[in-house]
Amino acid sequence: METKVTSVDNFMDNKNNYKQAVDILRDGDVVAFPTETVYGLGALATNEQAVQKIFKAKGRPSDNPLIVHIGTIEDVQKYASGITEDAEKLMTAFWPGPLTIVLHKTPGVIAPNVTPGVETVGIRMPDHPVALGLLRALGGPLAAPSANRSGKPSPTEAAHVHADLNGFIPLILDGGQTGVGVESTVLDMTVTPPAILRPGGVTREMIENVIGPVQMESKVVDDQAPRAPGMKYMHYAPSAPLFVIAPDEHEIRKAVAALQNEGEKVAVIGPDEFDIPDADWYFASGPLHDNEKMAANLYRALRQCDLTDANSILAVETDMTGVGAAVMNRLTKAADGKRYINKTK
Ligand code: TXA
Ligand code: MG
Repeated sequence: METKVTSVDNFMDNKNNYKQAVDILRDGDVVAFPTETVYGLGALATNEQAVQKIFKAKGRPSDNPLIVHIGTIEDVQKYASGITEDAEKLMTAFWPGPLTIVLHKTPGVIAPNVTPGVETVGIRMPDHPVALGLLRALGGPLAAPSANRSGKPSPTEAAHVHADLNGFIPLILDGGQTGVGVESTVLDMTVTPPAILRPGGVTREMIENVIGPVQMESKVVDDQAPRAPGMKYMHYAPSAPLFVIAPDEHEIRKAVAALQNEGEKVAVIGPDEFDIPDADWYFASGPLHDNEKMAANLYRALRQCDLTDANSILAVETDMTGVGAAVMNRLTKAADGKRYINKTK
């Protein structure tokens, strides 16, 4: 299959681009498109065969539910029932935007393979002109996970989608680099108190300002099955082992030297200001403690590491303020929990 890439921006008449995408989607196939978080791989959420093509193209385990994207807030009523006042407050406050709200699903509307094994549905209205343009031209809901091969970092540029899915999907709508850079916050509103299943662009504090206290999933699961099934899979990982390291230039230089002594080639992902002259590669992730810039740059940096022949990656951690919690959540997963420990200490 040939994968076509079409540029879509605010300066052009995009009617034809959307028509092309809508024709493909109505025909039961998939299209990659930009959102404000990451690129998504969309299929009409009411078409089971079309949704199946998402799992196939991504190589994604099919027990992991997909987010349903809608083009107007009112559409949520079609797919979810028993929507609480608090849930409505969140929609008013954060939609369109990077918050996925898990609600009780209305039976028989969304295709069963969008929400395998659960009675709930995760819904969000993306804040991106191309995503909204596409959803409105389609006039239907799009089931869309991130448009990467399963296990790879989510794509923040059309080129990332192309690198992963060329030949597997018919069309990529190229809307440039995405803004937020990490996936949406997933908030389960069917439990009390509501539970953040995945941190993202809308922070815990922002949510609590609107509806009061929420819980973090990690505090409630323990030995139960994870409630966001995606959380049990290895995620966001580049090929070489990645270690999280503290933002200390001197320690990082020592770590690079120690690894190189063992014959490793070392890539470092770190703040713009740091000077690590001996690193084999250095990928800047934005100014130190600028968590929004780091969120926007992280997945590109992880992918850049994959284009090198580094056999160790050191990634400099940031603090947990704002979107920093989401950044550290993804970085910890990419590291599979590993931190760099200096053995000579
Ligand atoms: O920003 C985003 O959310 C991007 C863009 C494309 O919208 N999408 C995305 O989708 O990250 P995906 O499939 O890669 O991640 C969806 C996450 C998974 O961890 C999944 O388990 C969880 O949301 N999820 C979806 N529906 C759920 C439900 N009904 N109950 C619990 N978790 C759910
Ligand atoms: Mg994903």
